[in-house]
Amino acid sequence: MSAVLKLRDVYKSFGGNHVLTGISFDILSGELVGLLGPNGCGKSTVLNAITGYCPIERGSIELNGQRVDALPPHEVAARAVRRTFQLPSMPARMTVGEVLMAASTQRHGLFATLLPSARTKHIEAQTRERARQLLDELLLAKVAHLPAASISGGQKKLLGIACALMGEPSLLLLDEPMAGVHPNLRTELMRVLKSINERGVTLVVVEHDMHFIAQTCARCIVLDRGRTVADCTPSELEHHEGVVEAYLGRTTKTATAPLRAQGTIGATA
Ligand SMILES: Nc1ncnc2c1ncn2[C@@H]1O[C@H](COP(=O)(O)OP(=O)(O)OP(=O)(O)O)[C@@H](O)[C@H]1O
Ligand SMILES: [Mg+2]
Repeated sequence: MSAVLKLRDVYKSFGGNHVLTGISFDILSGELVGLLGPNGCGKSTVLNAITGYCPIERGSIELNGQRVDALPPHEVAARAVRRTFQLPSMPARMTVGEVLMAASTQRHGLFATLLPSARTKHIEAQTRERARQLLDELLLAKVAHLPAASISGGQKKLLGIACALMGEPSLLLLDEPMAGVHPNLRTELMRVLKSINERGVTLVVVEHDMHFIAQTCARCIVLDRGRTVADCTPSELEHHEGVVEAYLGRTTKTATAPLRAQGTIGATA
């Protein structure tokens, strides 16, 4: 399978803080990959670098064989890439439904507004139907009429995912989609993300929730101190020296026990 995304020796610092010090990995078409690592190791920075929010200093990022590391966010997005944010913020003057409609890639243009044709009306109807499906799927239908800024943190997370899906991405990057989402809804969200992946969308998911990682990802990439320290299956995580060191800073035969006990690695249910 071909590499959709290729990072090579990506380097990024903020002042004296050397956050990414040579990140390299490939993501293949159709994969659902978990991106893990301790707090502050640079996971969100990697997503920001890929999507053009944070220019890198060295190395390269390719999307489908083309360099994108010097492109601004809207040009990366134009290549069917969508992302969510760890802490989403929503506009105060738009409703949830309006935010979702605005996230659509379908554009009708000025003439369409002045002289709506049968075709533009058809596109708008399709867009509304897609928005309605996503509101239902992500349990947001009941809050569709509310100001987007007024809904809960967990609901904003779900709205961020719905907006990303309105963009019909071929590559979707999610930053901690499970955080702040009620446990009952997490199972549903896992099902939604799996089915999106089964429909051909490549997913990279930053997540601390090991249940999610074990249940949905075939592959995990672990970052620590600015580097890729593991690229393995979820079941290999608890025995991986680089992973144990990343979370505990030491490697002994019993080192994984506390990680397993606290659910950081190895939890599958
Ligand atoms: N725009 C910025 N300006 C200055 N420092 C930044 C910026 N963005 C990130 N950093 C720093 O980069 C480091 C990595 O941050 P990042 O948000 O990528 O970590 P993370 O792995 O996503 O952590 P978490 O699991 O807590 O979300 C942190 O030390 C952070 O303070
Ligand atoms: Mg983060």
